Amino acid sequence: MTAVRIITVKTVVDRIEDGGAGIKLFTLVDPDRWELPPFKPGAHIDLHLANGMIRTYSLCNDPADKTRYVFAVKREADGRGGSIHLHDDVRPGDVIGVSLPRGGMQLPLHLSRLTFVAGGIGVTPFLSAAAQLRRLGRDTFTLHMITRGPPPLADLLAPLIESGHVVIHDTAVAGRPDIAALIGPAATDGGIGCCGPESMIGDFEQTAQDWSAEHVHVERFVAPPLPVDPQARPYTLVLARSGRDIAVGPGESMLQALTALDVDVPTSCCGGICGACKVGWLEGEPVHRDRALSPAERTRSLLVCVAGSASDRLVLDL
Ligand code: FES
Repeated sequence: MTAVRIITVKTVVDRIEDGGAGIKLFTLVDPDRWELPPFKPGAHIDLHLANGMIRTYSLCNDPADKTRYVFAVKREADGRGGSIHLHDDVRPGDVIGVSLPRGGMQLPLHLSRLTFVAGGIGVTPFLSAAAQLRRLGRDTFTLHMITRGPPPLADLLAPLIESGHVVIHDTAVAGRPDIAALIGPAATDGGIGCCGPESMIGDFEQTAQDWSAEHVHVERFVAPPLPVDPQARPYTLVLARSGRDIAVGPGESMLQALTALDVDVPTSCCGGICGACKVGWLEGEPVHRDRALSPAERTRSLLVCVAGSASDRLVLDL
């Protein structure tokens, strides 16, 4: 078995707090209280859990807070088991290996107004963004929090509610708000962002079509179903370091092909949103199909859970 080399940072669970609505808030620190690798607002970390599962969460603390990684986990009884393990088995003092943080928001500080729309636990990346904005004295932002009943993570939201930055939309009281009314018409001096259930993100993306793409940020927790690619074609996948290759049929997964070659690639979402399965590519023409890599990253990397190939031969840096 060949394993893709991954760098993990050893952390220890410092605190576990109740975040309400079936949510727990975890704080990880370095075992010797050294600083942790830096992160952007709402960046993701992969947790390498004791039972072999890898799960990805958004950081919700201020990136200036260099000694802690704070993230919220909702217990999903019908999920894949990661949140249940974290809720039921993990205790303060436990050691957890985490990936280097990746992704997150490059906040467009030159824009005069930022508007965020969050559903439920989707508020976490914007808590991190709000902390950075307030620290930098950038007060012209609004976080619309859409929730059914009392909002989760009330302790983290309280100072933002008090400062007038958060508007709570309780759908149990007033129904679902009109996303178009929340974000307003496309503006060259404004930026908008959304994180929440897929249906909310769908409404947001539909509404945001008139906005310039650089002014729109979407964070997903759950990978949307990957549509069948009618252009998918067969290709030969080559591993540069060993020279081994495998034929990949149209519509077959590159991840499955690597598994067939006995290559162990870390995965989390398996839907092109978390970036855990990133590998380098050297030759060929990848078809990316992910929602995580930047155009610059795509020039040298791909996500094997969703990528295909437009060329007959694709060479990976493996
Ligand atoms: S496993 Fe999440 S992007 Fe591939």
